[in-house]
Amino acid sequence: MKSLKITSHLEVYDSLDELPREVSVLMQEAFEARDNAYAPYSEFNVGAAILLENDEVVTGSNQENASYPSGLCAERTAFFYAGSKYPGVKMKKVAISAKSLKHIVAAPISPCGACRQVMAEYEVNQDAAIELYFMGETGKILKAKSVRDLLPLIFDRNSL
Ligand code: THU
Repeated sequence: MKSLKITSHLEVYDSLDELPREVSVLMQEAFEARDNAYAPYSEFNVGAAILLENDEVVTGSNQENASYPSGLCAERTAFFYAGSKYPGVKMKKVAISAKSLKHIVAAPISPCGACRQVMAEYEVNQDAAIELYFMGETGKILKAKSVRDLLPLIFDRNSL
């Protein structure tokens, strides 16, 4: 038996001021998207903003449903929208922010497993890494240089 060690490198930014300007602007778009969330059940609003290679920005927010599993996270809403509106256009960066209506979210909220899987599909297909920046309502921002850093041992089309 051999052991396999998997490492991920993330970067931590203390505040929005530390981010490159292009990214802080993208995060502002995520804040605006977050305010459009439809999340009456969790009262946990999430926004995602994707910067595409053609300089367009596509945003999404979580959309809940009385039949809970029918709802969709902000990240998948944004990625599916980008994939639908701009098929084949590479995605460069995504900024994600979450805000609860019940308490201040001061720690970075990382994308759920299902969203990581969906983001991985686009990253693999475009053969170029997608940078991810994610945060709560306030506080530190985490950066991953690739979806692979959040989802090691990905299952993708190459496994089929
Ligand atoms: N949510 C997202 O939009 N993105 C995530 O990565 C985590 C969770 C949403 C789903 C649901 O509407 C609410 O947050 C609470 O889970």
